[in-house]
Amino acid sequence: MKKVLVINGPNLNLLGTREKHIYGEETLEDIARKMNAEAIKLNVDLSFIQTNHEGEIIDKIHEARGKIDVIIINPGAYTHYSIAIRDAIKAVEIPTIELHLSNIHAREEFRSKSVIAPVCVGQICGFGSNGYILALNAALMM
Ligand code: DQA
Repeated sequence: MKKVLVINGPNLNLLGTREKHIYGEETLEDIARKMNAEAIKLNVDLSFIQTNHEGEIIDKIHEARGKIDVIIINPGAYTHYSIAIRDAIKAVEIPTIELHLSNIHAREEFRSKSVIAPVCVGQICGFGSNGYILALNAALMM
């Protein structure tokens, strides 16, 4: 059974109320529920977490070493500047998928730069909460 860890970064706990025209109406809990249902269907062992703290994201990535087969990460705004998260992903050598609800390439210019993308297998963005389901399916192909 494949073990997949989903890490959600800062402000994603506010989904459902935060900039709904960009991020949609669903809460992070709704997304977790949808993902859990898909994980059961796909026979995946899924862990789903959210934190607003960079260091905690890094700790979770370190802890995943030797335990987790694939990481799916929505690093929130850390995407655009956290070299520390990038280095953690590179260090643990766990195949990682970068995920965003919005199309970061079609928004403010500063969002189109991801310092995380070069250490990931690939990036899924612009499909709203369905991106989480796409990412889980992609994880199974790795
Ligand atoms: C986001 C995009 C980021 O630019 C932003 O800072 C977020 C959410 C997304 O899922 O679309 O917090 O990662």
